[in-house]
Amino acid sequence: MIPSIVLTNKEQELGHLVVIVSKFSKLPAGIFSGAEKAYLKVQVENRKQEVVEFNRLGYWVYVYFIKDEKVPSKRMEASRKAGDKVAVLLNAQKATKVTVFDEGGESEEVLAFAEGMALGSYQFLKYKKDRENENTLKEIEIYSKALEEAENSPTVTRHMSRVKRLNILLEAVACCRDLINEPNSYLTATAFSKEAGKMAKESGASVEVLNTQKLAALKMGGLLGVNQGSHEPPTFTVMEWKPAGARNKKPLVIVGKGVVYDSGGMNLKPGDSMMNMKDDMSGAAAVAATIYAVAKAGLPVHVVGLMPATDNRPGAKAMVPGDVITMHNGMTVEVLNTDAEGRLILADALSYAKKYDPALVIDLATLTGAAVRAIGKFGAVAMQSKAPAEMESLICSGYDVYERLVEFPMWEEYGEQMKSDLADLKNLGPAEASMITAGKFLEKFTDYPYIHLDIAGPAFIDKRDSYRGQGGTGFGVRLLFDFIQKNTWAGSQG
Ligand code: BES
Ligand code: ZN
Ligand code: ZN
Repeated sequence: MIPSIVLTNKEQELGHLVVIVSKFSKLPAGIFSGAEKAYLKVQVENRKQEVVEFNRLGYWVYVYFIKDEKVPSKRMEASRKAGDKVAVLLNAQKATKVTVFDEGGESEEVLAFAEGMALGSYQFLKYKKDRENENTLKEIEIYSKALEEAENSPTVTRHMSRVKRLNILLEAVACCRDLINEPNSYLTATAFSKEAGKMAKESGASVEVLNTQKLAALKMGGLLGVNQGSHEPPTFTVMEWKPAGARNKKPLVIVGKGVVYDSGGMNLKPGDSMMNMKDDMSGAAAVAATIYAVAKAGLPVHVVGLMPATDNRPGAKAMVPGDVITMHNGMTVEVLNTDAEGRLILADALSYAKKYDPALVIDLATLTGAAVRAIGKFGAVAMQSKAPAEMESLICSGYDVYERLVEFPMWEEYGEQMKSDLADLKNLGPAEASMITAGKFLEKFTDYPYIHLDIAGPAFIDKRDSYRGQGGTGFGVRLLFDFIQKNTWAGSQG
């Protein structure tokens, strides 16, 4: 559970308080004593820290001086990070409620600050008896005339308040993190499909889970092949949100890699590289959480989520290097490395996506170590085919929510490297640029505008990093929600 954000129009009560302000001269009147102002002035002049704190009769007051940064996306990110900082301090004080006060009309910063506070308060404590360090913050109250006015403005037609929508989105991110943080001992492919089912039910989306028999009938040789070494059946979860009056005629299809555990299979991963492989379903978790958020917020857009899921293990029946499998679209693949399993289950899902006649398909996958080596944990590797404009707008969303993307090329030569002497394709290319050859492999199963996101770097972090937390970050949910929201409002989807 993360704290919820509420808008209030009550004058300030006694309690923990955050005041957000652009500069010293804009400090609201009637809140600070002369001594407090003098203290703040010294602190601001020194500019030692952006958040100044002091105690007042058992309550804490934090003043956040908005970062003097011209680039809006960077300024918002600084506000989110400041929000996280204050949330950590408040949780250490065992505070349950805080009021965020804005008088200067800085409503975007206030929302970003609250977002950072809420996401920074996320914890995964399901398996801990000792709850001494459990975060206590439950409610983030915003007092902002600007936001209040914007919410009630007759010229702005929104079917839901921004604060309510933000709460839904943050809840979805928390849900996504929970799924990633769940170990494989709980989260089997079947358990994943059940969790997605619960999320669908709660949000109003529809859900269908394809079982082994159905997958066999559909000839999903990629998903079934990867599943061969497992003692657990695979699942293929389809979530759909199709509201009456959707602005797009053709749906947006989002596809997520749902490898609930990646041991590498017969090409067993060495040493520590198996450690965090419960996160190999982060793409599927982001897809489920995005559909949940879009449906719950009632966005007028038709979206379909496809989530193929299985674990990847060595077992008596497991695939061995050199095996040839036949995919859902009839192509044959020589499996040269069983650890390159993500592309096999995604390829089936991508060719299955054709039946929706999609306007655009986006996949999210913790696909390659090469993506991590290329750009680390601070963004995702992105590639597109037939979707340059969509990619541009997704990259913009990436900056806005700070889930940034770096575009890599889809040059034909990389595709040549995935051709096999024995079968139509092989699942292993050369050591160089393997995040690109993986993307090229996937492209072979598409015929529509397509964007591939390799989220292996940012999906999971070992050490806490501000509001991204520790463990599953939920990367992709805020990105896709922003993208869907903007495009829908512009009505640009075909
Ligand atoms: N799930 C891994 C990729 C991964 C690596 C995710 C690090 C998160 C962090 C994927 O299935 C994999 O094993 N990829 C191999 C492919 C190789 C055998 C062609 C890789 O990238 O090493
Ligand atoms: Zn693998
Ligand atoms: Zn994997």
